[in-house]
Amino acid sequence: MTPIPNFIYGTAWKKEATTALVELALQSGFRAIDTANQAKHYSESLVGDALARSGIARDQIWLQSKFTSLDGQDHRLPYDPKASIATQVEQSFASSLQHLRTDYLDSYLLHGPYNHPLLGTEDFEVWKVLEKIYHRGAAKMIGISNVNLQQIEMLLEAASVKPMFVQNRCYAAKGWDKDVREFCRKNKIHYQGFSLLTANPQIVQSRTVAALAKKYKTAPEQIIFRFCHQIGIIPLTGTSSATHMKEDLGIFDFELEDEEMETIVAQ
Ligand SMILES: NC(=O)c1ccc[n+]([C@@H]2O[C@H](COP(=O)([O-])OP(=O)(O)OC[C@H]3O[C@@H](n4cnc5c(N)ncnc54)[C@H](OP(=O)(O)O)[C@@H]3O)[C@@H](O)[C@H]2O)c1
Repeated sequence: MTPIPNFIYGTAWKKEATTALVELALQSGFRAIDTANQAKHYSESLVGDALARSGIARDQIWLQSKFTSLDGQDHRLPYDPKASIATQVEQSFASSLQHLRTDYLDSYLLHGPYNHPLLGTEDFEVWKVLEKIYHRGAAKMIGISNVNLQQIEMLLEAASVKPMFVQNRCYAAKGWDKDVREFCRKNKIHYQGFSLLTANPQIVQSRTVAALAKKYKTAPEQIIFRFCHQIGIIPLTGTSSATHMKEDLGIFDFELEDEEMETIVAQ
């Protein structure tokens, strides 16, 4: 079974700096990389360049990409927009493998549902192809991003291969996506969280977090990532700073006490 990462380096918005930053993240100790075949926000082929240049064996790196629907793309499409959805997914997946210079992904996600607030026909069409990709061993795990509770419930109900990952934005104001996280925990779905810092500046800058940072001699951002780790979130970071990369991986060197966890939840 593919090991589950405990911290993921995200590659969005880095443009031409992607190669250097992914190499830096690998040198800093990250071994899990998130990308997407969505040129609007990610430079997937530059992630592939960095992996090749790193000299690290493929089986030492956990690699995740995503299928992004037409409305999430700009003109740089990784598939034929006139083809069926099933063909689009296969074309996008093949193009991801080519960009990343590999013959498998550790995880492949539907970037976001076509339909809101519930899933619809197109979402199930995509999922059927993800199941096929999973069955032929080209993606070791499959999942979905940007889902609400009803959507993940519907997917679990309908899927023959159950989702293994959810990747969501986490707002502290919504209990750090509590309803989706709890559903995932009960159903053995691994939960990945993004925008942990950027969606929650008031918590990062709170007195509570500042006091904990002082106690543990860390940055406030490390307290947030450590808190997320302890509530069962696999955090994503897309930092461009070598110092922050080291700090982020430093969250495994200390542990927050139960009461301290509660004070952060209560913020
Ligand atoms: N599925 C989706 O739809 C979706 C959407 C958004 C993101 N993602 C994924 O999640 C990844 C992370 O994105 P994100 O939205 O969480 O934001 P992010 O790109 O990680 O941004 C974090 C921000 O916080 C700052 N920061 C300050 N101290 C930090 C510290 N100690 N560690 C880390 N950052 C620190 C960073 O600045 P410095 O660079 O100076 O450190 C940066 O400006 C993306 O690259 C992407 O892979 C997925």
